Amino acid sequence: MSHKIAVLPGDGIGPEIVEQAQRVLGALGMDLETQTAAVGGAAFDEFEHPLPPATLELAKNSSAVLFGAVGDWKYDSLPREFRPEQAILGLRKALGLFANLRPAILYPQLANASSLKPEVVSGLDILIVRELTGDIYFGQPRGVRDVAEGPFKGEHQGFDTMHYADTEVRRIARVGFEAARKRGHKLCSVDKSNVLETSQFWRDIVTEVARDYPDVQLSHMYVDNAAMQLVRAPKEFDVIVTGNLFGDILSDEAAMLTGSIGMLPSASLNASNQGLYEPSHGSAPDIAGKNLANPLATILSAAMMLRYSLDADAQAKRIEAAVQSVLEQGLRTTDIYEEGSHKVSTSEMGDAVLKALK
Ligand code: NAI
Ligand code: MG
Repeated sequence: MSHKIAVLPGDGIGPEIVEQAQRVLGALGMDLETQTAAVGGAAFDEFEHPLPPATLELAKNSSAVLFGAVGDWKYDSLPREFRPEQAILGLRKALGLFANLRPAILYPQLANASSLKPEVVSGLDILIVRELTGDIYFGQPRGVRDVAEGPFKGEHQGFDTMHYADTEVRRIARVGFEAARKRGHKLCSVDKSNVLETSQFWRDIVTEVARDYPDVQLSHMYVDNAAMQLVRAPKEFDVIVTGNLFGDILSDEAAMLTGSIGMLPSASLNASNQGLYEPSHGSAPDIAGKNLANPLATILSAAMMLRYSLDADAQAKRIEAAVQSVLEQGLRTTDIYEEGSHKVSTSEMGDAVLKALK
């Protein structure tokens, strides 16, 4: 069956890194139909909107979206709805992408890039599954109101609302369990159930869903402890599943364990495994157009796309093995360069991955 993939390169280094990922996809010998469309600042320049209707339609009608990055300082003065990053929010909303998957992998060859001791992080391979469309970030009501009683009576007060519905917890828990099934069969659900009602509810539902996954070992952890364990013994984790707020913070923390932002892919999925795949980093305007950017995060995002949206795990593994191989060969873009390794450009890194594909 042919799969349709929407390719949205975007701004800054987006086009350069997406080009390399497309070359790698093209070399797999799969039946993939790719179609490219404008997004972000580039789309604003051409169509006066960061997410033009044609781009949105293409994304909706594709099995997956391969996304580069959006954003540039030159759009900072635009009204919010025209800013490049609105494209990502618009796509998330239109496609119902509620599950954000962010692996934090530290290849042994890059262990010195981390600020932690190599023995703590070398070979790290964990996955954070973050709920993306609910929680206190979107809960209503929210705003500023008058305080009616208590010590702050008569003052103004900013407030937000945290809530999670049964279905919301259930579906993200399932994504966590399914992912754990494809990996190390361990799932840690992170909450703050000693303090928050929402978290206690979350914990109860996750425990219920666990009955369908007897092959996955479920544990629960408070978020403050999880933040500590991530720097103390991150390799103890396999898959972490958590809400939007905690996941936002923990996934950035986990990214920093690896120290190399140019290496980290991400996926955002909906209930039918349609997904948006993009590197965790931004558009890096400081190095755009110079053939300097590390394309590996985007290439690894394409691998995630094969695994989670196209049901082609073996092909995903081929790409991941090829990335491993180029690192073993000592090839490094400037962001991961170390004394004694071999410095390569964006396109040379793409060439090397293609050559390493078995
Ligand atoms: P950034 O991730 O673009 O860059 C941070 C630093 O990392 C820069 O020094 C950059 O050169 C470097 N870097 C990032 N990716 C790299 C790669 N693949 N290879 C080598 N070096 C790399 O974050 P920053 O500077 O905060 O934001 C720049 C723009 O990107 C802003 O407009 C921001 O809004 C946007 N952005 C977009 C995201 C997206 O499209 N999902 C996510 C984060 C930021
Ligand atoms: Mg964040």
